[in-house]
Amino acid sequence: MREVVATANANVALAKYWGKRDHALNLPYTGSLSITLSGLTTTARATFISGQSEDRIVLEGLEADEAEARRFRGFLDLIRSTAGIQARAEVAITSNFPVAAGLASSASTFAALTVAATRAAGLSLSSEHLSLLARRGSGSAARSIHGGYVEWLAGEASDGSDSKAVQVAQPDYWSIGVVIAVTDEGRKRVGSRAGMEHVVKHSPFFPQWLESHDADLEAIRQAIQDRDLKRVGETAEHNCLKMHAISMAARPSILYWRPATVAVIQRVAELRHQGIEAYFTIDAGPQVKVLCLQHQRALVAEEIGRVAGVQRVLLSGPGGGARVVEGA
Ligand code: PMV
Repeated sequence: MREVVATANANVALAKYWGKRDHALNLPYTGSLSITLSGLTTTARATFISGQSEDRIVLEGLEADEAEARRFRGFLDLIRSTAGIQARAEVAITSNFPVAAGLASSASTFAALTVAATRAAGLSLSSEHLSLLARRGSGSAARSIHGGYVEWLAGEASDGSDSKAVQVAQPDYWSIGVVIAVTDEGRKRVGSRAGMEHVVKHSPFFPQWLESHDADLEAIRQAIQDRDLKRVGETAEHNCLKMHAISMAARPSILYWRPATVAVIQRVAELRHQGIEAYFTIDAGPQVKVLCLQHQRALVAEEIGRVAGVQRVLLSGPGGGARVVEGA
């Protein structure tokens, strides 16, 4: 059978997904809204080969360990059942940015794999259907199917059939800058899957997160329509700090930050004081993503790059959705 190669970009959540109402189906308690990030790209190659006894999964050039392989096999089973095929797959995944360090590599990985593997299995699915499938690999992957500004609708159906991402605005509707401060390139200690499950069960503040989340989501959606960086940024910071606060308050506590994470937060506040519009957000890891005006991106990157403990900065902005690049 043919090999298909697809790419997808990472995304950064402005209103975050933190907590599942259904673990098997990756159904969230709340909606979430993100920017798909240009230049932070994962490439997935997939081929189905009849007669092969097991899926073979290669991640960044290395054979996947048993736990990782199990997760990918479960996901490929879904694609096989959608396509009505039995053949096992050869899959190879590579990313051009630090993986598993809170830069949402699972989002770009499963979005790219969904596109490559469905096409390799002979399917030609709508982006809506691709988003529903990608969600099963990793919740946030549902959003990386689309480019630009993307909302994942929580949905209500218990089978998850209405829990998919939709595009809110094209990448070029509003070209803002995103500067990513990498403060720690190592693998994160608590993955988002385990982290959110723990917080739902063991944080006294999870109910407050649920109560207040929709207001943040609506404010961000509206502010994107209005191209209002101040409102997007202030609301995204607030939503991010709430997610981390409820995680820190869990017992035992989860703290994703490094000293340099806090130093970048403080530098962003100082930049604002100096009249440079900049706002931070942080996913389930120590890296900080800074939102700014497109024409000030280089300046912000230079300032953030000078913060002690920042290992490197990546420049990004709204990018495109997942797509086939070879073998269509
Ligand atoms: O898709 P997951 O299971 O890796 O969870 C992503 C969780 C956050 O990145 C912290 C928030 C989000 O909405 O992307």
